[in-house]
Amino acid sequence: EWTERIAVDYVKGILQPKPTCDTWDQIWDFQARPDDLLICTYPKAGTTWTQEIVDLILNDGDVDRTQRAPTHVRFPFIEWIIPSIGSGLEQANAMPSPQTLKTHPPFQLLPPSFVEKNCKIIYVARNPKDNLVSYYHFHRMNKALPAPGTWEEYFESFLTGKVCWGSWHDHVKGWWEARDQHRILYLFYEDLKTILAPSLIEFDTPILDKIVHHSSFDVMKQNPMANYTVVPAEVMDHSVSPFMRKGTVGDWRNHFTVAQNERFDEDYQRKMAGTSLTFQF
Ligand code: PPS
Repeated sequence: EWTERIAVDYVKGILQPKPTCDTWDQIWDFQARPDDLLICTYPKAGTTWTQEIVDLILNDGDVDRTQRAPTHVRFPFIEWIIPSIGSGLEQANAMPSPQTLKTHPPFQLLPPSFVEKNCKIIYVARNPKDNLVSYYHFHRMNKALPAPGTWEEYFESFLTGKVCWGSWHDHVKGWWEARDQHRILYLFYEDLKTILAPSLIEFDTPILDKIVHHSSFDVMKQNPMANYTVVPAEVMDHSVSPFMRKGTVGDWRNHFTVAQNERFDEDYQRKMAGTSLTFQF
């Protein structure tokens, strides 16, 4: 019964919703095509926003074209399996080229053909404190994930990496290390907030204005093709917490206690020691 919360299991040491575990071999065997564009993130790092920006770029800012279908149809999510919505893998296999796809695995669990075919990959990372907060609220509203428990319990699950798609620290570091060997554009949520328009200067101003406007939080929140409200309420209950929740940097300050913040920072220093990857928070 889909209104019940879902079971999870481990795939190669990474927690996944059970339906994904059961089809892991097919996901791993996914045959990417050389002109595929893949958006990969740790969950809640800015996936949907990046998908909207990319689709607006591909369509020269024409919203009649970007509003042709909801995000999960425009960008099949390859390891997502929801009764009544379908299998992301089947949607991906059925999509004509060039495919635009979404996935969340740590680098070592990326289906190998994306690298073998040298596909373009955009990775987006978000500072871990806001990422944690966003993921917590998403667990509350998304019945396709286990219930988060209390805030305190979820905080510990996140720090110990016992959440779906695994440890945030391992995820961002693994992709960071892979970025120079493969065709990976590594972006940061916090940068998108400030440098989006200047980084798209090759577009004519009217097109650039449309891209920036239609990918803004307030406009996307009102866009049923970008805000996940078309997903049935028994899967995503936006009355518990909307998918387009706040879209800000620093909301962790409204959630973390002083003690949690100290514990988080100490854990962060230890786990991120030795990497050149840094975050603003
Ligand atoms: S998912 O389920 O992994 O695809 O979620 P994802 O899209 O990665 O993350 C959702 C968070 O991104 C915020 N969001 C945005 N922020 C700024 N601008 C825009 N346009 C935008 N679109 C989505 C969304 O609100 C979630 O963050 P929180 O902090 O929960 O609001």
